[in-house]
Amino acid sequence: MLQKSKRRRLKVQERWRCGNNYTLVRGDCAKLLRKIPARSVNLILTSPPYCIGKSYESNTKAEDFLPALEKILPDLIRVLRFGGSICWQVGYHVTNNVVTPLDVLVCDMMKKHPVMKLRNRIIWTFGHGLHSEDRFSGRHETVLWFTKGKRYRFDLDAVRVLQKYPGKRHYKGEKHGVLSGNPKGKNPSDVWKSSDVWDIPNVKANHIEKTVHPCQFPIALARRIIAATTKQNGLVLDPFTGAGTTGIAAVSLQRKFVGAEINRRYHRLAVQRIEEALAGKLEYRPDWKPVYEPDIHTPLTTVPKNWRVQRNDLHVNNCTSTRMARDINGQT
Ligand SMILES: C[S@@+](CC[C@H](N)C(=O)[O-])C[C@H]1O[C@@H](n2cnc3c(N)ncnc32)[C@H](O)[C@@H]1O
Repeated sequence: MLQKSKRRRLKVQERWRCGNNYTLVRGDCAKLLRKIPARSVNLILTSPPYCIGKSYESNTKAEDFLPALEKILPDLIRVLRFGGSICWQVGYHVTNNVVTPLDVLVCDMMKKHPVMKLRNRIIWTFGHGLHSEDRFSGRHETVLWFTKGKRYRFDLDAVRVLQKYPGKRHYKGEKHGVLSGNPKGKNPSDVWKSSDVWDIPNVKANHIEKTVHPCQFPIALARRIIAATTKQNGLVLDPFTGAGTTGIAAVSLQRKFVGAEINRRYHRLAVQRIEEALAGKLEYRPDWKPVYEPDIHTPLTTVPKNWRVQRNDLHVNNCTSTRMARDINGQT
């Protein structure tokens, strides 16, 4: 049997106390934030409600998006240490096919607090989602990374990825023939699809991390941000915890976590998942696992013979394509 102190260490507390390692309060984050001492949090990583009519949202207009955040922002900045980070993971609001990029709104809001400096606008791309008929299908969201103050933590070595051509060598000069890449790997860049390893799939139906929550971000995305911006035992906060992704990523990297979730069902789910992660029992997609890419000669990837678009038609600038010839000749 586990000792009482160890059991407590592996439990998520539901009331905030300064000494807690893991806390997930059920209720409004505004209430929790007021209790957290100033300059005690190392990273705030969150995806706020987009106001797009999800099951947990009563607001559906783009104009409703900012007021809830503006209300808590002074407290978010207050609880953050100097050198700490706020990362806003947001997508798009769409009404009547009119698109509002939510990061533009967040940027304008953050500009009113000059102590917060924008360091990156990260493009997170993924392969699957809704298919649009009247505009290009959306396949990316963004993460806006702000730091509090000029000096801040960024541990690049913790998040480097393998070079595309690790065997590449200098081809002239004094270093001719010497390997040219950094043996520690390369910077993953601000477009997070830079290699198979970091092409991070969104959490859809068949994803191992999928729960009943309609809007989770993947654990791998949270892990990269946490590894780059915090040290072990640092405190990570997610005011809109949802299914607990930020908390799971934090505990998997030996960081502490505090969050709030207003919905009773998601709160229960998140507590359970974070505790499973603490016990090493939660299954999640490892960061290193490449996205499934079948061979182009399987039945799944073979273009049916009678389809109008064939493989060599797929580039708009392919002047020699048979499709263009057909279009010019008015054939179908
Ligand atoms: C976009 S989801 C977050 C999903 C999360 N990143 C994950 O991966 O599971 C936003 C969550 O915020 C919760 N929420 C909305 N308003 C809240 C508030 N005032 N305080 C705490 N949670 C809130 C919603 O119930 C919803 O689960």
